[in-house]
Amino acid sequence: MTSTRFHDRTVLVTGAGSGIGRAVALAFAAEGAQVVVAGRRREPLDDTAALIEEAGGKALALTADVSRAADVQAVVAAAVDRFGSLDAAVNNAGVFRGGQPLADLSESDWTEQLDINVTGVFHALQAEVRQMRSQPSGGAIVNIASVFGVHARHPGATAYAATKAAVSVLTRGAARDHIGDGVRINAVSPGPVETEMSLLPGETEAERAERMENSVPLGRASTTAEIAAAVLYLASDDAASVVGADLVVDSGKTT
Ligand SMILES: NC(=O)c1ccc[n+]([C@@H]2O[C@H](COP(=O)([O-])OP(=O)(O)OC[C@H]3O[C@@H](n4cnc5c(N)ncnc54)[C@H](OP(=O)(O)O)[C@@H]3O)[C@@H](O)[C@H]2O)c1
Repeated sequence: MTSTRFHDRTVLVTGAGSGIGRAVALAFAAEGAQVVVAGRRREPLDDTAALIEEAGGKALALTADVSRAADVQAVVAAAVDRFGSLDAAVNNAGVFRGGQPLADLSESDWTEQLDINVTGVFHALQAEVRQMRSQPSGGAIVNIASVFGVHARHPGATAYAATKAAVSVLTRGAARDHIGDGVRINAVSPGPVETEMSLLPGETEAERAERMENSVPLGRASTTAEIAAAVLYLASDDAASVVGADLVVDSGKTT
C-alpha cells in the first residue's frame, strides 16, 4: 500500500531542480504532499514539477535565490497562498566551491558558499518558522548539512566544511529556540551521494563508483532516494519526538 504520511501537507524543498532536492520533492509527492519546489533556474524546477504532476501529485515551481531574504519570504507566502499552510520544509539548496587548499581559495568562492549555504539556510529558517509558528499544527524543518561539516575532515573542502558545520549548529540552536513554538527542526548530514556535486573535476560516474569502492566502508555512495528516505522520516510524525538531531547517512564514511 502506498504511504500517505504527508497526505494534504504542503512541503517546500529548496534546490529541488536537481540531485537530492529533486529526489526529496518526488518522495514527498509520492506520499501525498503538495510540493513547492524552489531554486534559481526555472527549467529544472519545471521538470521536477512535471515529474510530480505526471505521477498524479500537486506541485508549484517558484524561482528564488536563497541568498536573498525577500526571495525566500516570497516563496513561503506563495506556498501558503496556494495551498493554505506550510507544514514541512527542506533547506537543501547548496553549492560546493573548492578542491584546493584553503590558502588558494578565492574570496568570491568563500563568499558565495557562505551566502548560499549559511545565509540561505538562515533566511529559509526565519521565513519558514515565522509561518509555521503561526499555525496550530506547527511544522517540521530538515536542513541538509554534510559529513564534511562537524563530522569529518576532507582536504580541499575547508570553506565548504565551515559552511556545513554552521548548518549543523544552526539546526541544533534553532531546534531549541523553536520547539516550544511547535516547530521541529533537524538535519541530515549526507556523505557522498550519487549527484554531480560528488564528481571530481573531469570524473565519470564509473570512475566515482570505483573511487567509492575503495574509500567508503559500504563500497558505494548513497543514492538520492536513500537521502530522501532519511529526510522524510525526520519530517514525518514518525519522528515526532526527534528534535535537533543531525542524522548521518554516509555509507559508513565517518565510522
Ligand atoms: N552530493 C553530495 O555528495 C552531497 C553530500 C553532502 C551534502 N550535500 C548537500 O546536499 C545538497 C544538495 O546537493 P546535490 O548533491 O543535490 O547538488 P546539486 O544537484 O548541485 O543541487 C543543488 C541545488 O541547489 C540549488 N541552488 C544552488 N544555489 C542556490 C541558491 N542560491 N538559491 C536557490 N537554490 C540554489 C541548485 O539549483 P540552481 O542552481 O538552479 O539554483 C541545485 O538544484 C547541498 O546542500 C549539498 O551541499 C551533497
